[in-house]
Amino acid sequence: MPITIHALASKCLRSLSLGLTLGLAIFASVEGLAQATATLPATPTIAPLPQAWQFGNGTLRIDPALGLRWSGKSANAEVVFMPFFDKLFGLKASPKGTSLVCKLSGTPKKMPAGFPDASYQLSVNAKGIQIMAPTEAGLLAGCQSLLQLISVPKTSGEALSIPYIEIQDAPRFAWRGMHLDVSRHFYPISFLKKYIDLLVLNKMNLFHWHLTDDQGWRIEIKKYPLLTQVGGWRKETRKWLGGSKLQDYDGRRHGGFYTQAEVKELVAYAAQRQVTILPEIELPGHVQALLAAYPQYGCTDQKLEVWTTWGVSKNIINPNQQSVDLFKDILAEVMPLFPSPYIHIGGDEAAKDQWIANPAIQQQIKTLGLKDEHELQSWFIKQIEQYVNNQGKQIIGWDEILEGGLAPNAAVMSWRGTAGGIAAAKAKHLVVMTPSQFVYFDHYQSDRKWEEPLAIGGNVSLEQVFSFDPAPDSLGAAINQYILGAQGNVWTEYIASEKHVEYMVNPRIIALSEVLWSGANKPKDFKAFKPRCTALFNRVKALGYEGRE
Ligand code: ACM
Repeated sequence: MPITIHALASKCLRSLSLGLTLGLAIFASVEGLAQATATLPATPTIAPLPQAWQFGNGTLRIDPALGLRWSGKSANAEVVFMPFFDKLFGLKASPKGTSLVCKLSGTPKKMPAGFPDASYQLSVNAKGIQIMAPTEAGLLAGCQSLLQLISVPKTSGEALSIPYIEIQDAPRFAWRGMHLDVSRHFYPISFLKKYIDLLVLNKMNLFHWHLTDDQGWRIEIKKYPLLTQVGGWRKETRKWLGGSKLQDYDGRRHGGFYTQAEVKELVAYAAQRQVTILPEIELPGHVQALLAAYPQYGCTDQKLEVWTTWGVSKNIINPNQQSVDLFKDILAEVMPLFPSPYIHIGGDEAAKDQWIANPAIQQQIKTLGLKDEHELQSWFIKQIEQYVNNQGKQIIGWDEILEGGLAPNAAVMSWRGTAGGIAAAKAKHLVVMTPSQFVYFDHYQSDRKWEEPLAIGGNVSLEQVFSFDPAPDSLGAAINQYILGAQGNVWTEYIASEKHVEYMVNPRIIALSEVLWSGANKPKDFKAFKPRCTALFNRVKALGYEGRE
């Protein structure tokens, strides 16, 4: 029986059409080959597209009344995926069901930044379904592919079916992230679990939890209880940025925070799903909620309230030793809650006006022998970095941390385009790309803004996300080796409900996942991606998520 091998084509061989007749499954080495058989679909309906696959000749039928018989030694695959299989297909776990083996096998490849190797192999044949991977992360990725391969019957009672297939797959990038700002609007742990589920459904592995900002401090710090008691609440919220009248504010108190017990609960939930949570504690700017609670760490005598509007607040930390000690205390409580090797320390949009106007701070610049306020910010961040490094962790910050000189071991999250990230990579620092024009999911999704809910601005279409390459060949391997991956950012100034978050994220997350996982996908083919995107989007909607049609 001839077997046709399919793989994503490399740039130069895209036009080749080769049908190989082989009796064995051959993977990994097949990059460069592309062909479709007459009778089988050319590509599996999976997003992100796997690296290599081979359709067999036949179809596995699953009787929904009998369900799935899990075996193997996966600690989590059944717990994590059975609820999805149940909700989508009515499948239950049952000893009489179709065999689904999830087996750890092989030696994991060492990945950067402590991420697990997420490679896997998936086989569907007459014997049933088998997923093999060197890690739990790979087994979960295999289950995600399986979830998309099961075709739903046209009539009720009919068997579910999966085409015979062999898949060999691994992600292009180690860091496949999604961010959520819970300061501008607060979301309960129950929603964050649903958000993490969405990451799993997209083979993503990092949740960047933006916990503190001018408009709300969201994580309990036992030594400084006012951070949440005062800093966790604002008296009202500006409805839109354009106006200045009283009625532009909603007049409603807004807030909330996470206890350390809740943080631990979410971290455990994410860990079971192989998702790392990256906490962000903003400094030295975006701290007005902190200063409302503890004004002694500010630069002026002005009494502050938790900010009720948007933009860049002028209120900034006084970068003295007392403030260094404050953040050391805060991080001493934050770090043990998160297994993440990285702690995000913010660093963006720190307005320097109050440092310029303050004689004691100007004197500090002179005494330390620094050139300007940017170097003072770097000095401050370096104190924090040293402390974090001494606890065995690394810092990551927004690309502004480059401005006064990068802290020695810091990783950079590049949001103002990719230039900051490239500069950091040239200096041999690790980088995560989050350029606003490609991956800011708080922006509009089309240029027909009037059809969409009010957004902060910008326009990042599904196709724009899909077109992004965090590490294009043109940069060269010497730079690209430092680019860990990318993430989508969801700032919530104008996003006040769970449904609205989901609407902004879906389906753009599917395009981002394709960018981050399906590395050989060159040249990019949006038309070919679209049906796979729609298929996953439909499943995500059936699992109870909103999204933009
Ligand atoms: C940012 O969007 N201010 C990082």
